[in-house]
Amino acid sequence: MGLGHRASFALVSPVVEAIGLEKTYRRRRGDDVRALRGLELTVGEPGAVHGFLGPNGSGKTTAIRCLLGLIRPTSGQVRVFGVDVTERFHEVAHRVGAIVESPKMFPNFTGRKNLALLAQIYKLPSTEVDRVLEIVKLDGRDRDTFGSYSLGMRQRLAIAGALLKDPELLILDEPANGLDPAGIAEMRDLIRSVAAQGTTILVSSHQLSEIEQVCTEATIIYNGLVVESGSLADIRARHGAVDVIVGIEHPEQAVHVLSAAGISASVRPPSSGGATPGASGGLPLITVDVAPTDAARVTRVLADNDLYLSELRVEASTLEDAFFRLTAPPSPTAVDRVEVAA
Ligand SMILES: Nc1ncnc2c1ncn2[C@@H]1O[C@H](COP(=O)(O)OP(=O)(O)OP(=O)(O)O)[C@@H](O)[C@H]1O
Ligand SMILES: [Mg+2]
Repeated sequence: MGLGHRASFALVSPVVEAIGLEKTYRRRRGDDVRALRGLELTVGEPGAVHGFLGPNGSGKTTAIRCLLGLIRPTSGQVRVFGVDVTERFHEVAHRVGAIVESPKMFPNFTGRKNLALLAQIYKLPSTEVDRVLEIVKLDGRDRDTFGSYSLGMRQRLAIAGALLKDPELLILDEPANGLDPAGIAEMRDLIRSVAAQGTTILVSSHQLSEIEQVCTEATIIYNGLVVESGSLADIRARHGAVDVIVGIEHPEQAVHVLSAAGISASVRPPSSGGATPGASGGLPLITVDVAPTDAARVTRVLADNDLYLSELRVEASTLEDAFFRLTAPPSPTAVDRVEVAA
């Protein structure tokens, strides 16, 4: 299936679209769980890798289950390729590959046999098994039993299974879960190579750093609601704040005088990487919440109080910092930071 064919669908409707999605799990004890509270999600561009991000319990798996027609939303709409999947997922099932939570495979069968069974179910030629084994780079281990696979290999086999249908949309729920750094890097390579073929990918994670490098766009959710969404470049521009880092002998005193001057500052924990001996010669560091253009004001306030810094540098805070700020439960310090940055 060519990219041109795939692209033509996007002109008609977004690949994935959730509007006002609500899901309340009714429990017998009566304490209902509002897992989704009006979630909006749009995955537009074919070949996009859309990161679906949020901390544990924020509603990612619930939303993905709704997208796959596995559960019925309490209210709202969810469409895949323009089709209302709550009622008619079967109409798009052949265009969507997915892994939700731990993939089910037969442990005593080889990887190849497991895929061959799936191919049979989908009525696909067995040559498709070789195709997907090659994509996920398991072609050397396909005769080993699934039970003998490492976690990373199991994840890759599951993805191979999801790729059998040559789907236009691949939905991966936490594919990096439990993988070591090398496994996560392999997963990213795999996502990149699948997306490069024109497949749109929706990939969830509770850790931004795991998938940040492969996403072209992202939706960040917290507590069943979207807190940020857009292209990665836009999210970075909105949240990739800069911090001014100051190396100074009396950090607590410096924080105190800066705060008195209305400048938010905090002592940097020694573990945060910034405390490694640099030009500051190993002096303690403080992080100051000001625009880089205001750095001179920091110097002046400190000097006015007989505090002299030995190093001042501007450091871009990572998107991960923004992710934590957006998805952290409200605390007095978090609120302070947002107010100062606003
Ligand atoms: N079947 C269910 N019955 C009742 N509550 C549920 C059910 N499934 C999920 N929940 C609740 O809904 C909320 C969202 O859960 P969900 O699994 O969608 O979150 P998640 O973002 O996928 O989390 P994780 O990162 O841990 O996978 C949680 O409070 C969870 O306890
Ligand atoms: Mg989940």
